[in-house]
Amino acid sequence: MAKIGHPLRILPQIDSTNEEIKRNLAANLPEGAVVIADQQTNGRGRLGRSWHSEFGSGLYLSTLLKPDLPPENLSLVTLMAGVATATAIQHLAPVKLKWPNDILLNGKKLAGTLCECIYKPGSIPAVIVGIGINLNHTSFPKEIQGIATSLKLETGKTINRSELVLNLLQNLNSEYIEFLQRKNKNLIRKWTEQSNMFGKTMTVHQKGKTLLGTAVGLNPQGKLILQTPEGKKHVLDSGELIEATSKNL
Ligand code: BTN
Repeated sequence: MAKIGHPLRILPQIDSTNEEIKRNLAANLPEGAVVIADQQTNGRGRLGRSWHSEFGSGLYLSTLLKPDLPPENLSLVTLMAGVATATAIQHLAPVKLKWPNDILLNGKKLAGTLCECIYKPGSIPAVIVGIGINLNHTSFPKEIQGIATSLKLETGKTINRSELVLNLLQNLNSEYIEFLQRKNKNLIRKWTEQSNMFGKTMTVHQKGKTLLGTAVGLNPQGKLILQTPEGKKHVLDSGELIEATSKNL
């Protein structure tokens, strides 16, 4: 396994760090390569959303992984990236993980991960792990003001991006080693310990349907188990998850 962070490029501006990795795949970009940008002009989030990526205030980072594992294990990469990111921030603020890819602080969105898998049958998959963390923003555009936050806004402290990057890359390395060793139970345990969503009532919008239930845990593949008021358990792959009492993050 290559060490995550080699080679590492820091760019003043790019459309999206995930896209930049994708463009370099054909040139045989090695596993562990990292791209960081000071600003993204087309930062992307999950479900086709955009990721607010103003100059100098956030951490916008992507890395390339080439895990030689079956596709069914790959959804766990999102959980792995979440655990590595939350652990890197935990000493600065008490962040919480929300399935599948959100990192919340005081109920607002602080960070998110976007994992994209390029899987060709017969070859090792390329997984692009994109991580966005709101560090020193002092305000957000109107549309996301009520749902987004930054470490600066919540703690009053100015965050050193380089220190956070070092910490994040170390965590990604150690979590990735465990992931390749298929220590999935450890990963699920760490993810669950850093989340406060279990036991809460959630509404899920999936494939045109709406489901209401209590989040009761994750299965070994990292899928969410939601129990309806009638006691029926649903295993969720993805979808839009809204806490019954909170805003749409
Ligand atoms: C989400 O919460 O919806 C995912 C946000 C992911 C944002 C990061 S910033 C670095 C990387 N490049 C992108 O275009 N997106 C991810």
